[in-house]
Amino acid sequence: MATRRTFLQLAMAASLGAALPAHGQARRLDRRRIPGTDEFLSSVSLGNSNAFRRGDYDTAREILDIYLGRGGRYVDCGGEGALLVASTARSLGRADDVFLGSYFNGEQSEASEEAARQLRATVGKASLDLMHTYPEDGVPNWDTFRQWKEAGLTRYIGIARHNVRFYDMMMQLMQSGTVDFVQVNLSPLETDAEKRILPMAQDLGIAVTINRPFVNGRYFGVVKGQPLPAWAVDFDCTSWAQFSIKYVLSHPAVTSVLTETANPKHLRDNLGGGIGRLPDDKTRVRMRELIQSFV
Ligand SMILES: NC(=O)c1ccc[n+]([C@@H]2O[C@H](COP(=O)([O-])OP(=O)(O)OC[C@H]3O[C@@H](n4cnc5c(N)ncnc54)[C@H](OP(=O)(O)O)[C@@H]3O)[C@@H](O)[C@H]2O)c1
Repeated sequence: MATRRTFLQLAMAASLGAALPAHGQARRLDRRRIPGTDEFLSSVSLGNSNAFRRGDYDTAREILDIYLGRGGRYVDCGGEGALLVASTARSLGRADDVFLGSYFNGEQSEASEEAARQLRATVGKASLDLMHTYPEDGVPNWDTFRQWKEAGLTRYIGIARHNVRFYDMMMQLMQSGTVDFVQVNLSPLETDAEKRILPMAQDLGIAVTINRPFVNGRYFGVVKGQPLPAWAVDFDCTSWAQFSIKYVLSHPAVTSVLTETANPKHLRDNLGGGIGRLPDDKTRVRMRELIQSFV
Protein backbone atom coordinates (compact mmCIF):
# COMPACT_ATOMS: atom_id res chain seq x y z
CA MET A 1 0.00 0.00 0.00
CA ALA A 2 1.30 3.45 -0.84
CA THR A 3 2.39 5.71 1.94
CA ARG A 4 2.21 9.46 1.64
CA ARG A 5 6.01 9.55 1.67
CA THR A 6 6.46 7.10 -1.25
CA PHE A 7 3.79 8.97 -3.17
CA LEU A 8 5.57 12.28 -2.67
CA GLN A 9 8.91 10.74 -3.66
CA LEU A 10 7.47 9.35 -6.86
CA ALA A 11 5.67 12.58 -7.70
CA MET A 12 8.88 14.54 -7.12
CA ALA A 13 10.90 12.15 -9.31
CA ALA A 14 8.34 12.58 -12.08
CA SER A 15 8.42 16.35 -11.84
CA LEU A 16 12.21 16.25 -12.18
CA GLY A 17 11.75 14.56 -15.53
CA ALA A 18 12.40 11.12 -14.16
CA ALA A 19 10.46 8.08 -14.99
CA LEU A 20 14.20 7.59 -15.54
CA PRO A 21 16.07 4.53 -14.31
CA ALA A 22 19.48 4.93 -12.67
CA HIS A 23 21.47 4.90 -15.92
CA GLY A 24 19.58 7.99 -17.07
CA GLN A 25 17.59 6.65 -20.00
CA ALA A 26 13.81 6.86 -19.96
CA ARG A 27 12.05 3.50 -19.97
CA ARG A 28 10.57 2.27 -23.19
CA LEU A 29 6.82 1.97 -23.50
CA ASP A 30 5.16 -1.33 -22.70
CA ARG A 31 3.95 -3.21 -25.75
CA ARG A 32 0.78 -5.11 -26.67
CA ARG A 33 0.19 -7.72 -29.32
CA ILE A 34 -2.14 -7.10 -32.26
CA PRO A 35 -4.55 -10.05 -31.79
CA GLY A 36 -3.85 -13.03 -34.03
CA THR A 37 -0.41 -11.75 -35.11
CA ASP A 38 3.18 -11.60 -33.90
CA GLU A 39 3.18 -7.83 -34.24
CA PHE A 40 3.22 -5.42 -31.30
CA LEU A 41 2.14 -1.82 -30.77
CA SER A 42 3.27 0.50 -27.99
CA SER A 43 0.69 0.83 -25.20
CA VAL A 44 0.54 4.61 -25.71
CA SER A 45 0.17 6.03 -29.21
CA LEU A 46 0.20 9.45 -30.83
CA GLY A 47 -3.07 10.94 -32.01
CA ASN A 48 -3.46 13.45 -34.81
CA SER A 49 -1.50 16.26 -33.16
CA ASN A 50 -2.17 19.90 -33.99
CA ALA A 51 1.45 19.98 -35.09
CA PHE A 52 0.67 17.44 -37.83
CA ARG A 53 -2.59 19.12 -38.80
CA ARG A 54 -1.18 22.61 -39.18
CA GLY A 55 2.02 21.40 -40.90
CA ASP A 56 4.35 22.53 -38.10
CA TYR A 57 7.38 20.54 -39.15
CA ASP A 58 9.72 21.48 -36.26
CA THR A 59 7.23 20.51 -33.54
CA ALA A 60 6.18 17.37 -35.44
CA ARG A 61 9.82 16.34 -35.68
CA GLU A 62 10.47 16.97 -31.98
CA ILE A 63 7.37 15.04 -30.95
CA LEU A 64 8.06 12.09 -33.23
CA ASP A 65 11.70 11.97 -32.14
CA ILE A 66 10.72 11.75 -28.46
CA TYR A 67 7.89 9.28 -29.12
CA LEU A 68 9.81 6.89 -31.37
CA GLY A 69 12.84 7.12 -29.09
CA ARG A 70 10.68 5.73 -26.29
CA GLY A 71 9.51 2.78 -28.37
CA GLY A 72 6.34 4.42 -29.69
CA ARG A 73 4.82 2.91 -32.84
CA TYR A 74 1.25 3.80 -33.76
CA VAL A 75 0.58 7.29 -35.15
CA ASP A 76 -3.03 8.14 -36.07
CA CYS A 77 -3.52 10.82 -38.70
CA GLY A 78 -5.00 11.60 -42.08
CA GLY A 79 -4.52 13.72 -45.19
CA GLU A 80 -1.58 16.12 -45.32
CA GLY A 81 -0.78 15.34 -41.67
CA ALA A 82 -0.10 11.71 -42.56
CA LEU A 83 2.31 12.80 -45.30
CA LEU A 84 4.09 15.06 -42.81
CA VAL A 85 4.41 12.21 -40.30
CA ALA A 86 5.66 9.82 -43.02
CA SER A 87 8.28 12.21 -44.38
CA THR A 88 9.41 13.31 -40.91
CA ALA A 89 9.79 9.71 -39.71
CA ARG A 90 11.80 8.98 -42.82
CA SER A 91 14.04 12.01 -42.29
CA LEU A 92 14.66 10.75 -38.74
CA GLY A 93 15.66 7.38 -40.25
CA ARG A 94 12.76 5.75 -38.40
CA ALA A 95 10.09 5.09 -41.02
CA ASP A 96 10.17 1.37 -40.19
CA ASP A 97 9.40 2.10 -36.53
CA VAL A 98 6.17 3.92 -37.33
CA PHE A 99 2.85 2.09 -37.63
CA LEU A 100 0.65 4.57 -39.46
CA GLY A 101 -3.12 4.49 -39.05
CA SER A 102 -4.49 6.76 -41.78
CA TYR A 103 -7.99 7.64 -42.94
CA PHE A 104 -9.47 6.88 -46.36
CA ASN A 105 -12.85 7.17 -47.96
CA GLY A 106 -14.21 4.04 -49.63
CA GLU A 107 -16.86 5.99 -51.50
CA GLN A 108 -14.22 8.05 -53.29
CA SER A 109 -12.13 5.01 -54.06
CA GLU A 110 -10.04 6.37 -56.95
CA ALA A 111 -8.93 9.46 -55.06
CA SER A 112 -8.26 7.28 -51.99
CA GLU A 113 -6.11 4.84 -53.94
CA GLU A 114 -4.08 7.71 -55.34
CA ALA A 115 -3.64 9.19 -51.84
CA ALA A 116 -2.67 5.76 -50.47
CA ARG A 117 0.00 5.29 -53.14
CA GLN A 118 1.38 8.74 -52.42
CA LEU A 119 1.54 7.98 -48.71
CA ARG A 120 3.13 4.59 -49.35
CA ALA A 121 5.82 6.21 -51.51
CA THR A 122 6.44 8.90 -48.88
CA VAL A 123 6.85 6.43 -46.03
CA GLY A 124 8.84 4.07 -48.29
CA LYS A 125 7.03 0.84 -47.43
CA ALA A 126 5.59 -1.85 -49.72
CA SER A 127 2.18 -1.63 -48.00
CA LEU A 128 0.52 0.87 -45.70
CA ASP A 129 -0.01 -0.37 -42.15
CA LEU A 130 -3.65 0.50 -41.49
CA MET A 131 -6.25 2.05 -43.79
CA HIS A 132 -9.37 2.89 -41.85
CA THR A 133 -12.54 4.90 -42.14
CA TYR A 134 -15.61 6.11 -40.32
CA PRO A 135 -18.38 3.49 -39.99
CA GLU A 136 -20.85 5.55 -42.06
CA ASP A 137 -18.43 5.17 -44.98
CA GLY A 138 -17.23 1.70 -43.97
CA VAL A 139 -20.63 0.01 -43.83
CA PRO A 140 -21.62 0.73 -47.47
CA ASN A 141 -18.07 0.54 -48.87
CA TRP A 142 -16.38 -2.22 -46.87
CA ASP A 143 -15.74 -4.40 -49.95
CA THR A 144 -13.46 -1.65 -51.24
CA PHE A 145 -11.38 -1.80 -48.06
CA ARG A 146 -11.20 -5.58 -48.29
CA GLN A 147 -10.03 -5.32 -51.88
CA TRP A 148 -7.32 -2.83 -50.89
CA LYS A 149 -6.10 -5.29 -48.30
CA GLU A 150 -6.22 -8.24 -50.70
CA ALA A 151 -4.27 -6.22 -53.28
CA GLY A 152 -1.57 -5.48 -50.68
CA LEU A 153 -2.16 -1.73 -50.54
CA THR A 154 -2.51 -2.09 -46.76
CA ARG A 155 -1.82 -4.77 -44.16
CA TYR A 156 -4.81 -4.01 -41.92
CA ILE A 157 -8.24 -2.38 -42.32
CA GLY A 158 -10.44 -0.86 -39.68
CA ILE A 159 -13.13 1.54 -38.51
CA ALA A 160 -12.80 4.51 -36.18
CA ARG A 161 -15.26 6.78 -34.39
CA HIS A 162 -15.52 8.75 -31.17
CA ASN A 163 -19.15 8.72 -30.10
CA VAL A 164 -21.68 6.22 -28.75
CA ARG A 165 -24.17 7.06 -31.49
CA PHE A 166 -21.94 5.21 -34.01
CA TYR A 167 -21.57 2.01 -31.96
CA ASP A 168 -24.44 0.06 -33.59
CA MET A 169 -22.98 0.68 -37.01
CA MET A 170 -19.49 -0.26 -35.82
CA MET A 171 -20.73 -3.49 -34.27
CA GLN A 172 -22.59 -4.40 -37.44
CA LEU A 173 -19.32 -4.22 -39.36
CA MET A 174 -17.29 -5.93 -36.63
CA GLN A 175 -19.63 -8.92 -36.86
CA SER A 176 -18.49 -9.51 -40.46
CA GLY A 177 -15.27 -10.96 -39.01
CA THR A 178 -13.16 -8.91 -41.44
CA VAL A 179 -12.36 -5.85 -39.30
CA ASP A 180 -8.76 -5.87 -38.05
CA PHE A 181 -8.86 -2.66 -35.99
CA VAL A 182 -11.59 -0.76 -34.22
CA GLN A 183 -10.97 2.67 -32.72
CA VAL A 184 -13.40 4.08 -30.16
CA ASN A 185 -13.61 6.60 -27.31
CA LEU A 186 -12.90 5.60 -23.71
CA SER A 187 -11.91 7.42 -20.51
CA PRO A 188 -13.19 7.55 -16.91
CA LEU A 189 -15.70 10.13 -18.24
CA GLU A 190 -16.86 8.16 -21.30
CA THR A 191 -17.26 4.47 -20.50
CA ASP A 192 -19.98 3.16 -22.88
CA ALA A 193 -17.47 1.29 -25.07
CA GLU A 194 -16.68 -0.99 -22.12
CA LYS A 195 -20.23 -2.32 -22.20
CA ARG A 196 -20.52 -2.90 -25.94
CA ILE A 197 -17.62 -2.46 -28.36
CA LEU A 198 -14.76 -3.74 -26.20
CA PRO A 199 -16.28 -7.12 -25.19
CA MET A 200 -17.18 -7.83 -28.81
CA ALA A 201 -13.67 -6.88 -30.00
CA GLN A 202 -12.19 -9.19 -27.38
CA ASP A 203 -14.43 -12.09 -28.47
CA LEU A 204 -13.65 -11.58 -32.14
CA GLY A 205 -9.91 -10.91 -31.74
CA ILE A 206 -10.06 -7.35 -33.12
CA ALA A 207 -7.33 -4.89 -32.15
CA VAL A 208 -8.66 -1.89 -30.20
CA THR A 209 -7.23 1.60 -30.23
CA ILE A 210 -8.76 4.24 -28.00
CA ASN A 211 -9.40 7.90 -28.78
CA ARG A 212 -10.43 10.80 -26.49
CA PRO A 213 -8.60 9.58 -23.35
CA PHE A 214 -8.76 13.25 -22.26
CA VAL A 215 -12.15 13.94 -23.88
CA ASN A 216 -10.30 16.22 -26.27
CA GLY A 217 -8.92 18.24 -23.32
CA ARG A 218 -12.15 18.58 -21.27
CA TYR A 219 -10.86 16.00 -18.76
CA PHE A 220 -8.15 18.42 -17.59
CA GLY A 221 -10.80 21.02 -16.78
CA VAL A 222 -12.67 18.41 -14.71
CA VAL A 223 -9.64 17.38 -12.59
CA LYS A 224 -8.19 20.90 -12.31
CA GLY A 225 -7.37 21.83 -8.71
CA GLN A 226 -8.01 18.29 -7.46
CA PRO A 227 -5.18 16.44 -5.71
CA LEU A 228 -4.14 13.15 -7.29
CA PRO A 229 -5.13 10.44 -4.77
CA ALA A 230 -2.26 8.83 -2.84
CA TRP A 231 -3.39 5.36 -3.99
CA ALA A 232 -2.44 6.26 -7.59
CA VAL A 233 1.13 5.36 -6.70
CA ASP A 234 0.02 1.72 -6.37
CA PHE A 235 -0.22 1.58 -10.16
CA ASP A 236 2.80 3.80 -10.92
CA CYS A 237 0.72 6.88 -11.73
CA THR A 238 2.08 10.36 -11.04
CA SER A 239 -0.26 12.69 -12.96
CA TRP A 240 -3.89 13.13 -13.94
CA ALA A 241 -3.00 12.42 -17.59
CA GLN A 242 -1.50 9.07 -16.58
CA PHE A 243 -4.55 8.37 -14.42
CA SER A 244 -6.85 8.33 -17.46
CA ILE A 245 -4.33 6.52 -19.67
CA LYS A 246 -3.91 3.76 -17.09
CA TYR A 247 -7.66 3.51 -16.64
CA VAL A 248 -7.95 2.85 -20.38
CA LEU A 249 -4.99 0.48 -20.60
CA SER A 250 -6.24 -1.65 -17.72
CA HIS A 251 -9.14 -2.87 -19.86
CA PRO A 252 -7.96 -6.20 -21.31
CA ALA A 253 -9.40 -5.54 -24.79
CA VAL A 254 -7.29 -2.42 -25.35
CA THR A 255 -4.27 -2.64 -27.64
CA SER A 256 -3.18 1.01 -27.52
CA VAL A 257 -4.42 4.43 -26.39
CA LEU A 258 -4.10 7.44 -28.71
CA THR A 259 -3.06 10.63 -26.97
CA GLU A 260 -3.05 13.90 -28.84
CA THR A 261 -0.58 16.66 -28.01
CA ALA A 262 1.61 19.27 -29.67
CA ASN A 263 3.50 19.86 -26.41
CA PRO A 264 6.67 17.82 -25.73
CA LYS A 265 6.22 18.19 -21.96
CA HIS A 266 2.70 16.78 -22.17
CA LEU A 267 3.96 14.00 -24.42
CA ARG A 268 6.56 12.91 -21.83
CA ASP A 269 3.87 12.94 -19.15
CA ASN A 270 1.58 10.81 -21.33
CA LEU A 271 4.33 8.32 -22.16
CA GLY A 272 4.72 7.73 -18.42
CA GLY A 273 1.19 6.30 -18.50
CA GLY A 274 2.30 3.54 -20.84
CA ILE A 275 4.77 1.99 -18.42
CA GLY A 276 4.50 -0.16 -15.33
CA ARG A 277 1.69 -1.43 -13.14
CA LEU A 278 -1.98 -1.01 -13.96
CA PRO A 279 -5.06 -0.75 -11.73
CA ASP A 280 -7.08 -3.89 -11.01
CA ASP A 281 -10.84 -4.16 -11.59
CA LYS A 282 -11.76 -2.87 -8.15
CA THR A 283 -9.47 0.13 -8.54
CA ARG A 284 -10.90 0.88 -11.99
CA VAL A 285 -14.34 1.31 -10.41
CA ARG A 286 -12.83 3.60 -7.77
CA MET A 287 -11.10 5.67 -10.48
CA ARG A 288 -14.26 6.06 -12.50
CA GLU A 289 -16.30 7.06 -9.46
CA LEU A 290 -13.68 9.59 -8.37
CA ILE A 291 -13.48 11.33 -11.75
CA GLN A 292 -17.24 11.35 -12.21
CA SER A 293 -17.67 12.86 -8.73
CA PHE A 294 -15.74 15.96 -9.94
CA VAL A 295 -18.23 16.72 -12.73
N1 LIG B 1 -11.69 8.61 -35.72
C1 LIG B 1 -12.33 9.45 -34.97
O1 LIG B 1 -13.56 9.62 -35.07
C2 LIG B 1 -11.57 10.21 -33.94
C3 LIG B 1 -12.23 11.17 -33.17
C4 LIG B 1 -11.52 11.82 -32.19
C5 LIG B 1 -10.18 11.53 -32.01
N2 LIG B 1 -9.54 10.63 -32.80
C6 LIG B 1 -8.09 10.31 -32.61
O2 LIG B 1 -7.82 10.19 -31.23
C7 LIG B 1 -6.81 11.12 -30.85
C8 LIG B 1 -7.00 11.58 -29.41
O3 LIG B 1 -8.32 12.02 -29.14
P1 LIG B 1 -8.73 13.56 -28.93
O4 LIG B 1 -8.50 14.30 -30.18
O5 LIG B 1 -10.10 13.59 -28.39
O6 LIG B 1 -7.67 14.11 -27.89
P2 LIG B 1 -7.29 13.79 -26.35
O7 LIG B 1 -5.99 13.06 -26.41
O8 LIG B 1 -8.43 13.23 -25.59
O9 LIG B 1 -7.04 15.30 -25.80
C9 LIG B 1 -6.16 16.17 -26.44
C10 LIG B 1 -6.11 17.48 -25.66
O10 LIG B 1 -5.51 17.24 -24.37
C11 LIG B 1 -4.36 18.09 -24.21
N3 LIG B 1 -3.32 17.27 -23.54
C12 LIG B 1 -2.76 16.13 -24.00
N4 LIG B 1 -1.90 15.62 -23.09
C13 LIG B 1 -1.91 16.46 -22.03
C14 LIG B 1 -1.25 16.49 -20.77
N5 LIG B 1 -0.39 15.51 -20.42
N6 LIG B 1 -1.50 17.51 -19.91
C15 LIG B 1 -2.38 18.51 -20.25
N7 LIG B 1 -3.04 18.55 -21.45
C16 LIG B 1 -2.82 17.54 -22.33
C17 LIG B 1 -3.96 18.51 -25.61
O11 LIG B 1 -3.39 19.80 -25.61
P3 LIG B 1 -1.82 20.05 -25.96
O12 LIG B 1 -1.66 19.86 -27.44
O13 LIG B 1 -1.60 21.44 -25.50
O14 LIG B 1 -1.04 19.04 -25.16
C18 LIG B 1 -5.30 18.55 -26.34
O15 LIG B 1 -5.96 19.77 -26.12
C19 LIG B 1 -6.91 12.21 -31.92
O16 LIG B 1 -5.71 12.91 -32.04
C20 LIG B 1 -7.20 11.40 -33.16
O17 LIG B 1 -6.01 10.82 -33.67
C21 LIG B 1 -10.23 9.96 -33.75
